[in-house]
Amino acid sequence: MRIRKALIPAAGLGTRFLPATKALPKEMLAVIDKPVIQYAVEEAAGSGIESIGIITSRRKAIMEEHFRPSPELAGVLTEKGKSELLKEVEGIPRLAALSFILQPEPLGLGHAVLMGKEFVGEEPFAVLNPDTIYDCPIPCLKQLMDVYEEKRTPVIVLGRIDAEGTKKYGVVKARQVSDRVFQVLDVAEKPGPEKAFSDLAVLGRYVFEPDIFEALRKIPHGRSGEIQLTDAIKSLIETQAVYGVLFEGRRYDAGDKFGYIEATINFALKRPEFRSRLLELLNSLNLKDE
Ligand code: G1P
Repeated sequence: MRIRKALIPAAGLGTRFLPATKALPKEMLAVIDKPVIQYAVEEAAGSGIESIGIITSRRKAIMEEHFRPSPELAGVLTEKGKSELLKEVEGIPRLAALSFILQPEPLGLGHAVLMGKEFVGEEPFAVLNPDTIYDCPIPCLKQLMDVYEEKRTPVIVLGRIDAEGTKKYGVVKARQVSDRVFQVLDVAEKPGPEKAFSDLAVLGRYVFEPDIFEALRKIPHGRSGEIQLTDAIKSLIETQAVYGVLFEGRRYDAGDKFGYIEATINFALKRPEFRSRLLELLNSLNLKDE
């Protein structure tokens, strides 16, 4: 069965980005002129996803507002003859069919995914963690979906990390099966440098079959008292093959302050209207580590 649906868990508190996220959902912070969550929605749409379930929490209504049509704004832009901007704004609600699903309590990423069970139904689906922004020649999720087409078993994205990364991400033990594809043999949530199996981490994109929901329901609360998606993946590995794809492209952890700066500079350098001015600015700063 073709993958048509995706879940985007966006119910987290954004504590890594305080005080900016005291009132503003972290997913609504803009990288240049686009909220972080829109990058994930565009990646999903660009990978062929038709319906997206965004897992949200109370006080995040502004996210829904962003993806709704805005006739008043369209009227003003038409009047002012701003046709390019109008096209862009009107395109946002058309990116995919969006549903918003409430996660009543912040019980972890695994619990957020579990909230999407009814939306997903009985078909394979994708999960995109919106904190992670990918900038890839082939959309990152599409890279996973292509491997799923062949293997018909769960696929997760893998990337190389340093010692610090072992404290921030799920880390896998894996066996390479081809250039970019690995069979995942074990996974640990944020194990730290001493206990990490390898330098390969799970970086926020997943393809699952509906049996992940059963696994999520059975596992006990894990690290920090939360229901961890990593623990559910670990339990899948006991009965089926799980593959990892070493993605090709660039990744930014926009839920982290420095990652957000990196993402902003990267995307600004790609915009013709900013590129030369930004390079000029960076050069003029005469950067030195003092
Ligand atoms: C979650 C997962 C972790 C994964 C990370 C990727 O962590 O629990 O396994 O490596 O997303 O972004 P979080 O960032 O929610 O703490």
